[in-house]
This record gives sequence, structure tokens and C-alpha cells, in this order.
Amino acid sequence: MKRLAILISGRGSNFEAIAASVAGGTIPAEIAVVISNRPAAPGLEIARRLGILSVVIPSKGLDREVYDRLVLDELDRHQVDLVCLAGFMRLLSAQFIRHFPQRILNIHPSLLPAFPGLDAQSQAFEHGVKITGCTVHFVDEHLDAGPIILQSAVPVLDNDTVETLAGRILAEEHRIYPRAIRIVLAGAYEVVGRRVILS
Ligand code: GAR
Repeated sequence: MKRLAILISGRGSNFEAIAASVAGGTIPAEIAVVISNRPAAPGLEIARRLGILSVVIPSKGLDREVYDRLVLDELDRHQVDLVCLAGFMRLLSAQFIRHFPQRILNIHPSLLPAFPGLDAQSQAFEHGVKITGCTVHFVDEHLDAGPIILQSAVPVLDNDTVETLAGRILAEEHRIYPRAIRIVLAGAYEVVGRRVILS
């Protein structure tokens, strides 16, 4: 059985969607550990409720390399096969990424490469795009930049607010992240340049 780690910083709704797919058997894996860099992350309560091991490794005040070493040690202790960033609001160092080559996934609430970085839903809304969405991609050393596994498009409606738009994007995130994890665990893809070809 493959072992997942989920890294969170906040609400944890993507973690919860992944956990539901694991519990329902559509992701053939177990969640070995949930790691939060913020002690107050509401997602930790979800882990407790679901009986999933969670660990807080506070990042405040630590250099990136020092922090990433602590997280890597924790991941190694749990013999993790795949790392899923789920609202984990930190950049990872090169040493971290080299440790898990093509074994770190991220979800981002825009159609990358549009609107990387923070508050992607607001960026899209304020830019006035008519279509946005979400992206699951492999993590490389650049921000929100690695090869794209799945995307889902969400129309921006004339009567949307940022909140209503973000809500519809989030529903798509919860749909495509578990699917992408299943694809990667099954090895049902090939990376050709930047393209992830699904088989
Ligand atoms: C999600 O919308 C996720 O796509 C976004 O943070 C939110 C976390 O929500 N991630 C990023 O913006 C990463 N650049 P969640 O904690 O409820 O899953």
C-alpha cells in the first residue's frame, strides 16, 4: 500500500476530499501523516476527527533549508511515497524537491500558468477573465510551475463575487485532486518535456 503525506497550512478541505477518496477506496493508498506548518490550521481538527496522524512543524522564524530538513525527516520516518501539498503556503527548497523527484503534487486555484502565487481567485476575478479554474501539477523548483497533470475550467459569471467564484473552483479542486493522485499512484502517465501524457 502506497503511503501519502498531506501538507497543509489552513482549512484542509482538499485534504478532507483526498481522505474521503482514500476511505472510499478510489485512492488505493493510506494517509501516513498530515503535516501543518501552522499550529492553528483548522485542517488539523479534520485529521483528529478522521483519526489520521497529524504533526505540527511550525515554520515561523526558521530558514527554508532548516525547515525543509525537519519536514523531510518526518516524511522519511513515515516512509512516504507521495507528498500532496494541499493549501501548503510555502515554497519548497531544491533539496526537498530532489528528495522526492516527481513525487510532490500541488493544487492551485487557477488555470496555470495564469495567476500563480497568492489569492489566485482574486487575481483572476480582478483581471476580468471569463474562464478560470484549477490545476494539479508536479512541483518543481519554481512557484506553481511544474508539469500539469489535470486542470478543470470554471466560468466566471457576471454576478459572481470572489467568494462565489472561489467556491465553485474549490468544488472542482476537490474533484480533480483525488483523480490526479490516483493517476500518479497508478503510474498511468508519462512526462514528455512539460507535457504529462495520460495512458
Ligand atoms: C485551495 O484553494 C488551494 O488551491 C489553495 O489554497 C486553498 C487551500 O484550501 N492553494 C494555493 O493557493 C497554493 N498556491 P484548503 O486548505 O481548504 O484545501
